[in-house]
Amino acid sequence: MIEVNNLYKTYGRGEARVHALQGVSLKIHQGGFLAVMGPSGSGKTTLMNILGCIDTQTTGDYIFAGTNVKRLNTQSKVYLRNRRIGFIFQSFYLLPSLTARQNIELPMVYSGTPPKERHKKSAELLELTGLISRANHLPSELSGGQRQRVAIARALVNSPSLILADEPTGNLDSRTGDDIMRMLCGLNKQGATIVLITHERNVAECAKELIVLKDGQIISEAECS
Ligand SMILES: Nc1ncnc2c1ncn2[C@@H]1O[C@H](COP(=O)(O)OP(=O)(O)O)[C@@H](O)[C@H]1O
Ligand SMILES: [Mg+2]
Repeated sequence: MIEVNNLYKTYGRGEARVHALQGVSLKIHQGGFLAVMGPSGSGKTTLMNILGCIDTQTTGDYIFAGTNVKRLNTQSKVYLRNRRIGFIFQSFYLLPSLTARQNIELPMVYSGTPPKERHKKSAELLELTGLISRANHLPSELSGGQRQRVAIARALVNSPSLILADEPTGNLDSRTGDDIMRMLCGLNKQGATIVLITHERNVAECAKELIVLKDGQIISEAECS
């Protein structure tokens, strides 16, 4: 479903140049679950931003479901990002003035989904993430784990075929982090393709494949049982 060939990413110019990715190649099959590990600064987020069409590589190819992303115009790329990819970040990025339900519905507001359909979908996702009793609460009235569940529900709104999670448990205590991981594992079992960045090996446990990045290169690759 995803194929990355010899990806390079260089930030800045001249003296300030940073080679964030230096020849990364990988494949992720539909329904796959790839964990990406590696020290801070190794290029994990850079890779995720490229996979999520938030950023563009300097050289190399990124093929998403048979399409070379390089050949897409801006509009098609935005469509791909909004409709087929769900993002989950370490700092949840919820809008503080919107309730849980409104935060979940936001991507559907952007995509012009009619209110009735929006409410139906958000009700479904509130149920899935165990947040029904918190639907009308503001983020400030929710625990860290609940906020991350809102963010996950929001990521699922357009039924993305690819879920990208950048250290989703990084700001959570370990028990809450385990809950969030179980949720991601469940989504994967239901068919979602997942790329998970993490620095905790136990968090990567339910992944099917693991790569370790260092200085922008894959230094180890393993299939997990
Ligand atoms: N927007 C940017 N401009 C310049 N350098 C960047 C930028 N984003 C990341 N970098 C650099 O690229 C390298 C990889 O960063 P990143 O992908 O964020 O690593 P990780 O997520 O593994 O910590 C680091 O040296 C970082 O400082
Ligand atoms: Mg990072």
